[in-house]
Amino acid sequence: MSTAKIILDGKEHEFPVVVGSEGEVAIDAQTLRAKTGAITLDPGFGDTGACQSAITFIDGDKGILRYRGYPIEELALRTHFTEVCYLLIFGKLPDQKEMASFRDKLTRHSLLHEDMKKFFEGFNPAAHPMAILSSMVLALSSYYPGAESPENVELNIIRLLAKAKTIAAFSYKKSIGQPFIYPRNDLSYCANFLHMMYAVPAEPYEVPKVLEDALNLLLILHADHEQNCSTSTVRVVGSSKANIFASISAGICALWGELHGGANQKVIEMLERIERDGRNYKKYVDMAKDKASGFRLMGFGHRVYKNFDPRSRILKAQCDKVLQELGVDDPLLELARNLEEVALKDEFFIERKLYPNVDFYSGILYRAMGIPTNMFTVMFALGRLPGWIAHWKEMNADPQNRIARPRQVYIGPTQRSVLPIEQR
Ligand code: CMC
Repeated sequence: MSTAKIILDGKEHEFPVVVGSEGEVAIDAQTLRAKTGAITLDPGFGDTGACQSAITFIDGDKGILRYRGYPIEELALRTHFTEVCYLLIFGKLPDQKEMASFRDKLTRHSLLHEDMKKFFEGFNPAAHPMAILSSMVLALSSYYPGAESPENVELNIIRLLAKAKTIAAFSYKKSIGQPFIYPRNDLSYCANFLHMMYAVPAEPYEVPKVLEDALNLLLILHADHEQNCSTSTVRVVGSSKANIFASISAGICALWGELHGGANQKVIEMLERIERDGRNYKKYVDMAKDKASGFRLMGFGHRVYKNFDPRSRILKAQCDKVLQELGVDDPLLELARNLEEVALKDEFFIERKLYPNVDFYSGILYRAMGIPTNMFTVMFALGRLPGWIAHWKEMNADPQNRIARPRQVYIGPTQRSVLPIEQR
């Protein structure tokens, strides 16, 4: 094994080098402070590996994304979201028997405890559905105590996956003042969610296949993305041995921010603003280039992808097809394409390798599917759920896991004495 040498104050120190299965190289700095007295400083953790993980591989320079070794393009074409959940969480694609049993459990656990329905009455009808989702997921821990015991882990994983979609759909029904629609065990995961969203007791509702397929694709594309902000949050919270519901609820909160999953809502709001402003693309591209404006092109740029985001390519290609099948003519799609074209030709975006990310086109699809804008990030959360769970499970099974506790470089005042208040 090769080693890395660090010279500090003229003294040389050697550290082991770790190489991942795709050739990624890391300097193992766990003994850095003990050997040298120094720590690493890496705000935003752009150059820090927080763990070794066997779940997802990304090569941001080449635009590669694989779950458990399977390319995202193949998974998007050939699997259902529930198979991807199984793959991420249990490490293998299920066979037919495993799938049937998994699907059965997911449908049987999708009802909420009746008392939990009362919680919805307490929320402000104008509450953001992400606030409701994170609160309700945390509230599951009050119904399933002992959530952290090993015997319960698999059952709680099923409960989370099964009930999150019910919570999400109920939060939408609450916001529009319609009665809750209960899940149906004869429907697939995606169809069940759409049924709970769009059915009303007054008439029959059949979930259109095109909607079910589009949702399936969107959830697969969002299912995992290794150590992103919300997944790292789940790992950090879980590292203290907080239960799975508490850890995932924290991840949902982290996802809400507009630099992360909240970007999909912001993309549509930005496109609507540009539309209202006479489609003056240049004005908004110029604003995004001017740091003082505080404006960024939402749905552009990524910490990891510096070539293209493979998820955004798949979505862009799907947009046309799905909108056509749904008979939706959304002027925002053309606007998005034009904006992308203008930005991609601009030196500022070329130099910084800023490309459309997954959130740039996902909002257009959600809109076409009738999902309200403030529910977009909830959709992202439903997709990311298996990824969060897989990381929580992997971390808990890792004997090397320690509580997350970074250090800092203190830059405040050095020691001083407290003056009595009348002398200050
Ligand atoms: N518009 C304009 N300038 C940008 C943008 C943007 N969307 N993104 C990055 N930049 C500039 C930034 O100002 C900086 O310029 P300079 O080097 O001159 O200071 C440079 O590009 C690097 O940006 P950064 O903020 O240091 O990059 P980061 O890796 O810390 O942030 C990001 C990544 C995704 C937060 C950022 O690109 C961004 O704010 N994008 C808009 C929000 C967005 O679409 N988020 C969704 C991300 S994908 C879904 C997910 O996984 O959450």
